[in-house]
Amino acid sequence: MTKAKVAILISGRGSNMMALLYASRLPDSPYEVVLVASNDPDAPGLALAAAEGVSTFGHSHKGLDRASFDAIMDDQLRAAQAEYVALAGYMRILSAGFVARWEGRMLNIHPSLLPRYKGLDTHARAIAAGDSHGGCSVHLVTAELDDGPVLGQIPVTITPGETADSLATRIMFAEHQLYPKVLAEFVGRERNPDWLLGKVRELALALPDAEEKASHGSPGFFVTGGKFFAYFTANHHQDGTIGLLVKASGAEEQAMLIDRDPDLYYRPAYLGPFNWIGIRLDQGNNDWEHLAEWLSKSWRLSAPKRLTKMLDIADEF
Ligand code: GAR
Repeated sequence: MTKAKVAILISGRGSNMMALLYASRLPDSPYEVVLVASNDPDAPGLALAAAEGVSTFGHSHKGLDRASFDAIMDDQLRAAQAEYVALAGYMRILSAGFVARWEGRMLNIHPSLLPRYKGLDTHARAIAAGDSHGGCSVHLVTAELDDGPVLGQIPVTITPGETADSLATRIMFAEHQLYPKVLAEFVGRERNPDWLLGKVRELALALPDAEEKASHGSPGFFVTGGKFFAYFTANHHQDGTIGLLVKASGAEEQAMLIDRDPDLYYRPAYLGPFNWIGIRLDQGNNDWEHLAEWLSKSWRLSAPKRLTKMLDIADEF
């Protein structure tokens, strides 16, 4: 199986970067580290990554506005063919454009139990508040600082007489356990049949009058009183692929799609002659908006007139 390509952004020591890197070197890791980059060319973590044979890039942000600096980083991430970005002690506020470009594919680790204590001095604030626990969180990065859906957390007990430094040391152990595990799960889910089916189901059942029923051993989606408009197949007939089957408008479109993007589209067994098209879901780079459009196009080709009448009228204008 191909490994997901991850770039790590750091600003300093890079101990979380190293935890991610060494975990990636276990044989069953679903990701590999393709780049470690920093806004400080002298960050100690950069030299360590280079010593481990990882490509590195350092460029100071000084004298550059936020968007220009982020564009430089973005160019490097793309040149390294990164599919995911892991922020690991990257002490920069990101521009909105950069966050949008990596939306849903950029993770961050933060030393608190979010939503508590966003920002700095998290350990001192937890102790001062009399909390029973500090901890760490890995979350998806959104436009708000240290916000975004939490993907995993580890609580760490605050002991009597605890100082910010002693707590930070123990939380660091927790961080190094948490980040590689959450990252591996996150990049692995786009290849995990259960997760993929859940996502397809959510999109398919959001369409009007859509229902689910197994058909020849595969989950199928149909319109009440109408026909099937989609099937989810996972290793059906031992073909080794996970795919979404939807209706193309005809044989011509089917052939054109396969010709244009043979890595993504395929002619499914059995339904191929009926102008259905297979879309691979197991390559780790699914474009869910595009898949939602396919589902809705296929729904429209399968739905009874009573449901499509209004859409047909709207098309006339
Ligand atoms: C880590 O504790 C990380 O959680 C924190 O910076 C440290 C980096 O250490 N990140 C933040 O505070 C982000 N808001 P490292 O360079 O040794 O990984």
